[in-house]
Amino acid sequence: MKSLDVLMPGEGMGLIGEMIAERLPLHRLWREADPGAWLAEWGPRIRALAMTGGHAAIDDAYMQGLPNLEIISSFGVGYDHIDARAAARRGVIVTNTPGVLDDEVADTALGLMIMAVRRLPQAERYLRSGQWLRSAFPLTASLRGRIVGIVGLGRIGKAIATRVSAFGLTVVYHGRNPQAEVDYRYFPSLVDMAKACDILIVVAPGGPGTRHMINAEALEALGPDGVLVNIARGSLVDEKALIEALRTGKILAAGLDVFENEPSVPDELIALDNAVLLPHVGSASVKTRRAMADCVVANLFAWADGKPPLTPVPETPWRGVWGKGG
Ligand code: 8YV
Repeated sequence: MKSLDVLMPGEGMGLIGEMIAERLPLHRLWREADPGAWLAEWGPRIRALAMTGGHAAIDDAYMQGLPNLEIISSFGVGYDHIDARAAARRGVIVTNTPGVLDDEVADTALGLMIMAVRRLPQAERYLRSGQWLRSAFPLTASLRGRIVGIVGLGRIGKAIATRVSAFGLTVVYHGRNPQAEVDYRYFPSLVDMAKACDILIVVAPGGPGTRHMINAEALEALGPDGVLVNIARGSLVDEKALIEALRTGKILAAGLDVFENEPSVPDELIALDNAVLLPHVGSASVKTRRAMADCVVANLFAWADGKPPLTPVPETPWRGVWGKGG
């Protein structure tokens, strides 16, 4: 194995650093007293970046400070925090962790959907605060007879669709293109789909192309019985418009695992009783996070061994040429 100096900008999941350090020289930037000065001195030595979560931004300027960078191995399936096009221009491979978290995140989406519609967290709080002793918990809306619109029918979207169908609910979807191999009805227009369905589950990638696609118009179209579930990225939803829609009853409820400026969640959202809020735990089981960690490390070890990257993202496909030629 040739020596591959790996830079880890943030701590994230400790196991990743431990596994990398067993085989490769690892530089833990967050431990440096002056990370900027460290980068200026040692940046040219770095050939690999290990991103361990937290979504620190890796833009073109950051990559410029690492002139010999060959690969960025990122933790998570979404990589909107990395400028993958800039990486492609620089011949840098970006890898993510697809496949290993689909079922976990789909499970979380279903959990949020049920919790938001049937108000289960509110019902639990009701019991714990002793209110059940005085009266029964108020009746809630129902999932029965609902049409569920999935925004982004990728791997996770399909895992969600399978579960939703098993619940006896109709699935429709919106995305850039219809998919020949699925039977669910396709809507080329998001607003048209929002009008036709009762529950919107957002599972499309983040980034400039999808920013605020769930805006006031889409929420209005979802309507007063409508429920929004977001397990993708906070950037896809106009949070101010969502707060307004929840406050004024333009939609019924929301279940959110992601936020525009996480881990900061607006007080206005926290104050709303019709929002179920989770701290970005979609993939956060021991088993799944371990599989994601293994994928991050396996990409780096493959690269260090002179083998192709295992899971390059579409913007930086493996073309059979090493490092700068990739
Ligand atoms: C992780 C995620 O929580 O895979 C993703 O895109 O958002 C999650 O699975 C995240 O990557 C950890 O920071």
